[in-house]
Amino acid sequence: MTKAEIEIIKNVENDIRELFSGEFSGHDVLHTLRVVKNARMLNADNAGDDFIVTLSALLHDADDRKLFPETAENNGNARKILEKYCVSKENTDRIIDIINSVSFSSGKIPCSIEGKIVQDADRLDAIGAVGIARCFSFGGNHSRPVYEEGDFSGEGSGDSSIAHFYNKLLKLEGLMNTAKGREEAEKRTAFLKNYLEHFKEETDITSLLDLYI
Ligand code: ADP
Ligand code: NI
Repeated sequence: MTKAEIEIIKNVENDIRELFSGEFSGHDVLHTLRVVKNARMLNADNAGDDFIVTLSALLHDADDRKLFPETAENNGNARKILEKYCVSKENTDRIIDIINSVSFSSGKIPCSIEGKIVQDADRLDAIGAVGIARCFSFGGNHSRPVYEEGDFSGEGSGDSSIAHFYNKLLKLEGLMNTAKGREEAEKRTAFLKNYLEHFKEETDITSLLDLYI
């Protein structure tokens, strides 16, 4: 990256810290910074344009519908920040395109290598040790139970945080775009599976009557 590009990145990081101040829902600024770290790790061989990867990762949740419903439609926050630092129209278009295709809920696979990297980087943060923390934090915020009795036999309602492991988290490794992303996702998923085994063992109650004997 050029000196001028690094300067832009630093300024954007400051703006993002301000934008997310007071946000603890699992989409806080530390999530964004981890996604930047993951994205740069996945782009260590510079297959993608480093400047675009870093800026897109920094801005990927700046107009998330859940946090910023007023700007979500037009990418208002991201556009405002990019304009402020005179990022070219061409680069702005590339970044906005990436932001709009990375979210799991969008169901899209980004076309560009930079987009594929940022999507993988975002998904990595939903699994592994930090993914577990975010999952329970989200569940707590949305008044969801940690687990239900039927979760491990497939008889739960599917609404608990543990159910979310099966509904989404364990599927992410199969959805990775890049080889490096898949490799890291496999490690983190092995950890999730190990965690679930322990969780199942610690919570297993076949019959309460057995406990009273
Ligand atoms: P994205 O940024 O791709 O739209 P989400 O906003 O759906 O992702 O998820 C943000 C975080 O909250 C992730 O770590 C995800 O696993 C977690 N999460 C999302 N939905 C649930 C749920 N129903 N139960 C528990 N955790 C959830
Ligand atoms: Ni994200």
